[in-house]
Amino acid sequence: MIPFLALIFLLISKIFCASVFPEQVHISLGEDAAAMVVTWVTFEKNYKVGTSDGWSKQFQFKTFPAGNNFKFRVCVFGDLGYHFGNSIPDLMKAAKNDLFDMIIHVGDIAYDLHKTDDDGVNIGDKYMRELEPIFSRFPYMVIAGNHENDKLNFSHFHNRFRMPGEVNGHHNNQYYSYNVGSAHFFGVSTEDYGYREEYGNAPILAQYNWLTNDLQETNKNRVIRPWIIGYQHRPFYCSNTECPIDAEPLIRIGDNNGIPGLEPAFIQNKIDLQFCGHRHSYERFYPIANLVAYGNDSSGNAYHNAAAPTYITVGTAGCHSSKTPFGSPHPASAFRSDDWGYTIMTIYNHTHINLYQWSVDQQKNIDNIWITKDFGH
Ligand SMILES: *[C@@H]1O[C@H](CO)[C@@H](O)[C@H](O)[C@H]1NC(C)=O
Ligand SMILES: *[C@@H]1O[C@H](CO)[C@@H](O)[C@H](O)[C@H]1NC(C)=O
Ligand SMILES: *[C@@H]1O[C@H](CO)[C@@H](O)[C@H](O)[C@H]1NC(C)=O
Repeated sequence: MIPFLALIFLLISKIFCASVFPEQVHISLGEDAAAMVVTWVTFEKNYKVGTSDGWSKQFQFKTFPAGNNFKFRVCVFGDLGYHFGNSIPDLMKAAKNDLFDMIIHVGDIAYDLHKTDDDGVNIGDKYMRELEPIFSRFPYMVIAGNHENDKLNFSHFHNRFRMPGEVNGHHNNQYYSYNVGSAHFFGVSTEDYGYREEYGNAPILAQYNWLTNDLQETNKNRVIRPWIIGYQHRPFYCSNTECPIDAEPLIRIGDNNGIPGLEPAFIQNKIDLQFCGHRHSYERFYPIANLVAYGNDSSGNAYHNAAAPTYITVGTAGCHSSKTPFGSPHPASAFRSDDWGYTIMTIYNHTHINLYQWSVDQQKNIDNIWITKDFGH
């Protein structure tokens, strides 16, 4: 794999208090997995990563191979704070040991990107500086959570990151998709539902139109790219004392007044997996659609040629608020844990995906499953 810089994206900071020295360098994937987007913060106009005034550290990254049949590993987590970021030391170690190739953060970033800490320093800046060793090396793919709403149309989330895709000539971090190897990834915003009083219904409708079109197009290439894997912040499905199974019916199925939900598009287009955060626990569901779980006991392999999408909540990376309290599990819930940690998903090939959940508390894997399908399924 040859380091290959396809795009350099210069972020001019107007709203962040940054120095002239380029910092908070991080990378993300472009639409084509063979391209990489490099983003950094600097106060100077047209400032480059290196000038006579100073150079950032030297960073390294690898691009993915071309084609659609190679193994790669994705670290997935949600709800990671700068303070009480319980998983950060383990994430640093895992990155150093090359245990993953890219990162998906399913919302709630830094707590909060736009907030000022007690010492007067912006928390988003502190977070991005601390995690620069990881984010400069592995693509850091993000979606907005409720904590990214800064009441200014997610301005910090919009300006600090640069996810693939454009809408009307502007990048749009709220919803986007990209391909890596045998997988199509997409991120969607649940916050356009959560804050529709503030921003109106238009973002929900625009996202819905984009999503249905994106998933339909993807299905045309299912033979060469069989996996469809999405992520969003708020889960539809969750079982703990704070939420019943149907945690967000408006987001899941919409309402009778023209608000479309996301689940019908997921079911119709046979997505394989959807990652969520928001709840500060790990919870894996049996494949489930319209509140009915398919193969909801551990005897069979519900995850082989699954009849419905699998949802995994992984809001366990660690933050100020306490762990999610559990009552008795819902029958559709296959495994739960409130340990801090993160998921490592390995996409082996067209037929095999493995996932494990690393527990920071116990320093071991606490859940390990295969999601498999027959070739061409
Ligand atoms: C919010 O930002 C998005 C781009 O991320 C833009 O499309 C939308 O028009 C903005 N909405 C408002 C109310 O400013
Ligand atoms: C469990 O599976 C059975 C039989 O497949 C089904 O009738 C039932 O609705 C499922 N339960 C849940 C909670 O999904
Ligand atoms: C796909 O990966 C799995 C897990 O490593 C392996 O058992 C299987 O043989 C692979 N299939 C192909 C066609 O390479």
